[in-house]
Amino acid sequence: MSTQVPFFEYPRLWSDDREEFLSIIDNVSSSGGFILQQAVSDFESELANYAGSNYAVGVGNATDGMEIFLEAIGINPGDEIIISSHTMLATASAIRVAGGVPIPVDIGEDNLISIQAIEDAITPNTVGIMPTQLNGRVCDMDSILAIAKKHGLFVVEDAAQALGAKYKGQHAGTFGLASDISFFPAKVLGCLGDAGGVLVNDKDLYHQIFQLHDHGRDVDGEVRRWGRNSRLDNIQAAILSHKLKTYDKVIARRREVAQMYQERLGMLNELQLPAPPNTTSDNFDVYQNYELTADNRDELKVYLGDKGIGTLIQWGGTAVHQFTQLGFDQVLPDTERFFERCIMLPMNVFISNTDVDYICESVTEFYRK
Ligand SMILES: Cc1ncc(COP(=O)(O)O)c(C=O)c1O
Repeated sequence: MSTQVPFFEYPRLWSDDREEFLSIIDNVSSSGGFILQQAVSDFESELANYAGSNYAVGVGNATDGMEIFLEAIGINPGDEIIISSHTMLATASAIRVAGGVPIPVDIGEDNLISIQAIEDAITPNTVGIMPTQLNGRVCDMDSILAIAKKHGLFVVEDAAQALGAKYKGQHAGTFGLASDISFFPAKVLGCLGDAGGVLVNDKDLYHQIFQLHDHGRDVDGEVRRWGRNSRLDNIQAAILSHKLKTYDKVIARRREVAQMYQERLGMLNELQLPAPPNTTSDNFDVYQNYELTADNRDELKVYLGDKGIGTLIQWGGTAVHQFTQLGFDQVLPDTERFFERCIMLPMNVFISNTDVDYICESVTEFYRK
């Protein structure tokens, strides 16, 4: 039987830590503290502390987090927010739900939002820029912040994929007014269901976000505005606290896998690999995904599938501006070219060095057969 390397083994999220998780679930449940209790406030402090932000708020998922911080900032109908077209549709939908207009733009050479495209997309209606720190890599934030300053725009980050990633030593999620982090199971810091966090520095904005996520109630329990319910469950918070303790080891392993991919596949001209770890001192990447572009991408995917290797094409192969049924009608050539060629190889802590060797041998075999 051929070797099997699934793209991501969801059951192992549970089985690898089953005993610890059972004890965490037992502790939280026995205490009766299911909602907005100690486990959540502890995790919020640990998260803020880890990322170097003044505050963190646990929310139901990262998409809610974006909607909430945009609502807290205050978006008027017609306000445009510039995003990369290579992001989850959630980045755009959050802007829509908060009352604004998402403006997807092309990607640059690093496959993150193009700095030139941001400049070109600014109109009198533009109010903000929301870069996605995609695949665990932070965008060129110096340039983005400079453009924002020049045009009087706010910056918020979709850092759903990037907890722990850094740019010039500063953590993803701490560059703008606020950011969201996702704890979806397959995220670098994943829990056992939906969960998210918002990072924020400004005290006032923190209180608005807190109120919005809990029926308008502030930390003192007083209702101060209309709100909703999007709270982080205590059980998930306790699990996340547990996992945060060893998070840097998880990042280190992912960087090791990225380095192995680079060493074993870097010589293939048919592939364009993501930047390996330590290419520049500016970026510290956490490799949420190992996304590359490849000649004959579709055939490669089938070939690897036949070898028992799981691969994935991000967002099902559709960039945000290609959701024409939602009203988008741009042509973004660099993003479109990218989406004809992109593919993700397995990247997680469940794969072994032998798995990586097998994947790399199979990819090489495909191009050299
Ligand atoms: C870039 C990006 N933004 C937003 C989200 C949404 O996160 P959540 O599923 O926690 O709402 C994701 C999750 O996949 C994502 O990758």
